[in-house]
Amino acid sequence: MNTLLVSLELCTFCLILLSRKSAAFDYRYEACVPKNCGNGPNITFPFYIQDLHESYCGYPGFQINCRSHGYPTINLPENDYLVENISYLTRSFRVYNDAFSSISNRRCLPQIGNTTLPIREFNYVDETRLYLFSNCTRPLSKDLSRYEIVCRDNWDLAIWNTDENLVKGLQMCEKNVVAPVEVHGNEERNGIGNYLEILRRGFMLNWTASDCSICEESGGRCGFNTSTYHFKCFCPDRPHLWSCKPGKLYIWQP
Ligand SMILES: *[C@@H]1O[C@H](CO)[C@@H](O)[C@H](O)[C@H]1NC(C)=O
Ligand SMILES: *[C@@H]1O[C@H](CO)[C@@H](O)[C@H](O)[C@H]1NC(C)=O
Ligand SMILES: *[C@@H]1O[C@H](CO)[C@@H](O)[C@H](O)[C@H]1NC(C)=O
Ligand SMILES: *[C@@H]1O[C@H](CO)[C@@H](O)[C@H](O)[C@H]1NC(C)=O
Ligand SMILES: *[C@@H]1O[C@H](CO)[C@@H](O)[C@H](O)[C@H]1NC(C)=O
Ligand SMILES: *[C@@H]1O[C@H](CO)[C@@H](O)[C@H](O)[C@H]1NC(C)=O
Repeated sequence: MNTLLVSLELCTFCLILLSRKSAAFDYRYEACVPKNCGNGPNITFPFYIQDLHESYCGYPGFQINCRSHGYPTINLPENDYLVENISYLTRSFRVYNDAFSSISNRRCLPQIGNTTLPIREFNYVDETRLYLFSNCTRPLSKDLSRYEIVCRDNWDLAIWNTDENLVKGLQMCEKNVVAPVEVHGNEERNGIGNYLEILRRGFMLNWTASDCSICEESGGRCGFNTSTYHFKCFCPDRPHLWSCKPGKLYIWQP
């Protein structure tokens, strides 16, 4: 009776082990499941969330952090940017300066820094820039006074990069920062009335990285091995070169 119970128990134990074993996926495949910060877009290759993913789930430099407001942010040298949207299809994403995420009805521009892209894999989609000036020599000339913003706690003037008076601003003001923006319609011609809205809208960046679609379509999750510096396709069974489906040889195209 005792031996029967023991062997039954052992057997159940075996079965549990066996079923666990067969249901288990490769740990890298499991680690790289798309995740999000509560709000905002799902994060997957070439991006990875610093505390929720392993760094091999993305490319070096494509690191996302979750902030207390529940949105993903990307940290560039001088500012944090909130990642509003990611299009994995067009390999582009929309960001705006995190300093604008907490502004309410105040019409004052917060203090911000220049924008420096941290890695060469990121590129601007749009070339439009808004210059913000402070420490300007007073009184302002007639040319410049029409660029004065309403609340001048931090900034005096806002001038488009395409504006003929930009050079005057650069000459007459001691401090400036250059903010990447995206213009819609006639905004550039309509002066700077809605600068806060324009800065809050942010701008688009695109990226260069290995194409994940072959791996993804074969049921895998893309990743990157930083020690070998090679793309990986993490499949349910184990990491593969490009695809979870055998038989086809894919030529590497960066
Ligand atoms: C994130 O992925 C989940 C599961 O695929 C999906 O239901 C959800 O709509 C996605 N969220 C966004 C913001 O795309
Ligand atoms: C994200 O981008 C898609 C496609 O461009 C768009 O349909 C969607 O409204 C955007 N979502 C947000 C929150 O901006
Ligand atoms: C990024 O966008 C710019 C401007 O539209 C374009 O010239 C460039 O080819 C794009 N780069 C990638 C990798 O899509
Ligand atoms: C701008 O003016 C402020 C206050 O007058 C001063 O503290 C700051 O050093 C000045 N900055 C520059 C870059 O001139
Ligand atoms: C921002 O960059 C511009 C050049 O693009 C430079 O002239 C300016 O001094 C920089 N501003 C700050 C605050 O570093
Ligand atoms: C990266 O490659 C090294 C050497 O081949 C290997 O030991 C390691 O397990 C790989 N890491 C991942 C995450 O695949």
